[in-house]
Amino acid sequence: MTRLSVNINKIATLRNARGGNYPNVLDAAINCQRYGAEGITVHPRPDERHVRYQDVYDIKPIITTEFNIEGYPSEDFIKMVLDVKPNQVTLVPDPPEALTSNAGWDTIKHKDYLKNIISRFQSGGIRTSIFIETDSELIKNAADTGTDRIELYTEPYADNYHINKEQAIFSFVKAAEIANSVGLGINAGHDLNLDNLKYFKLNIPGLLEVSIGHALISDALYLGLENAVQMYLRELK
Ligand code: PXP
Repeated sequence: MTRLSVNINKIATLRNARGGNYPNVLDAAINCQRYGAEGITVHPRPDERHVRYQDVYDIKPIITTEFNIEGYPSEDFIKMVLDVKPNQVTLVPDPPEALTSNAGWDTIKHKDYLKNIISRFQSGGIRTSIFIETDSELIKNAADTGTDRIELYTEPYADNYHINKEQAIFSFVKAAEIANSVGLGINAGHDLNLDNLKYFKLNIPGLLEVSIGHALISDALYLGLENAVQMYLRELK
């Protein structure tokens, strides 16, 4: 089974545009779960332009599925995650000013750094995942960091899907096979959408979770949130 975790950052972006509390991110999280989402993802950034740190504390009590907090592991972020204790933390290497995550970890160069941070989260009972590209050496080295899972950075797949889907998925299948062989769980995310999700799911062995934000929330403008969540779920079943 592949779980659908809905990233609700875009709801917060819309809310922040007017400074009030509409649309309400808590309601969005409650509703996504009511409509069948199997998890909620948030990605608080240091400038709080999307989901704010306070949102993360507020959302925690209404989670009935699985809470995944993504982010760059600054000391503020680490403290918040250890306080909130989500089910999973996903570490991304993007600098604070990045528009969106656009690269995975270098698990060779940053192995000791990741090891240390991952063990802090795991001591707090939090499952860890690290955002990563498909290079086989990086995947093998990810296992040495002690992380429970990797999250495959799927933008290159999404970009190439319409050009040649067999070629687009190739390195992801290889990466997943290596991850499975070294005992890493596999998540995936970035630019997954109603066109490319099913083929990804069908071809990636052991895909445990996808986190989807931009496309799902954009589709909800046309389809409504309930329909959008259910259409994504259908692609995964
Ligand atoms: N995974 C990570 C690490 C991300 O940073 C993001 C975007 O915040 C996603 C998944 C979801 O990507 P998208 O919004 O394109 O679905």
